[in-house]
Amino acid sequence: MAITFELKKNGNDDIGFLSFFEIGNNLRFQIERVYYVYGAKKNTKRGMHAHKELEQIVFCPYGAIRFRLDDANSTEEINLDEPNKGLYIGKGIWREMVWEEDNSVLVVAASMLYDEKDYIRDYGMFLSLVKSGYWKKE
Ligand code: TYD
Repeated sequence: MAITFELKKNGNDDIGFLSFFEIGNNLRFQIERVYYVYGAKKNTKRGMHAHKELEQIVFCPYGAIRFRLDDANSTEEINLDEPNKGLYIGKGIWREMVWEEDNSVLVVAASMLYDEKDYIRDYGMFLSLVKSGYWKKE
């Protein structure tokens, strides 16, 4: 349902590491927006929504954040617990995130500008949109 990436790690223990996303190499869309969530305590729960059109790449450069993804047919759990792990989340996926450590940082690269109308925040509504074929591939 989601695509996980193990990004290349450039560097070593002395100077640290560098990882990247780029078009044609893990990144499947042009980024229009980047946002990040920080200062959250362990066990914080966020997300609880799906998107009509938005695609995202998410990663956790510091700490550990567990993602629970749901496409209404199955669920999947992915723990972003290394800075070089990334996750692509396409449209029509319900997501919930749980902070596994204090101050874990969540970085999101998104395909569109912020638009509240793109959010589905009601799980029942999400299920009925899936049922109606809203995200059926053309
Ligand atoms: P929200 O998407 O509800 O965060 P989460 O689902 O992780 O709890 O966003 C929180 C607030 O920030 C909300 O008032 C909308 C605002 N916001 C922006 O203005 N721009 C953005 O790019 C994002 C993601 C949120």
